[in-house]
Amino acid sequence: MPIRPVLTFPNSLLRKRAEPVKKIDNEIMNLIKDMKDTLTEASGVGLAANQVGVLKRVIVISNSPESDIIAYINPEITNRKGKRTVTEGCLSFPGYSGIVTRSISVSARYMDESGGRVKITADELLSQALEHEIDHLNGILFVDHLREHEKLSAVDPEYRPHNHDINVSIKVQDNQYESEFNKKLYTKIGIDDLKLALDRADILKDVEQAND
Ligand code: NI
Repeated sequence: MPIRPVLTFPNSLLRKRAEPVKKIDNEIMNLIKDMKDTLTEASGVGLAANQVGVLKRVIVISNSPESDIIAYINPEITNRKGKRTVTEGCLSFPGYSGIVTRSISVSARYMDESGGRVKITADELLSQALEHEIDHLNGILFVDHLREHEKLSAVDPEYRPHNHDINVSIKVQDNQYESEFNKKLYTKIGIDDLKLALDRADILKDVEQAND
């Protein structure tokens, strides 16, 4: 199955809310297969459909190198417990990472590929990945403070740095590995857009300077 190019920040589809899947048809099954192949090619932990330009509520997560990649359809977090600080990256910000606050554990429900309704409680990497990927389906990126951003996105879905980003204490590290970007996953234009956007995101620079 084909690998699909991964959209990079600030592509506007990353700021859109994805629509629920009503029926698991061939189109959705093909999307899931392609997303799994794309995640494998990227050696990533998780991928949301927005990131390959499809506004459907589908995410795939590779919880460990030994286990299969799981698809979660219409996933929802039903409960969060505790808070912890973790380092996080995103395939739509290739070469960058930041420190964010995530839950210690989450409960979630979703539909599996055969349409079965599943409930899980997760901690560690899976909990973090579920929060990160379900955020993507709501147009939220790891550089955002969750609750405040949902309020803002209703009036202005486009990215704009805002004060509460400080709360996630972003530390942007300059990417030193440009030549290693996988050309199957990222077009040159995407990478250039990303760099330009990060240059323009004053908040990220401010925090970076504050950490120096
Ligand atoms: Ni991501």
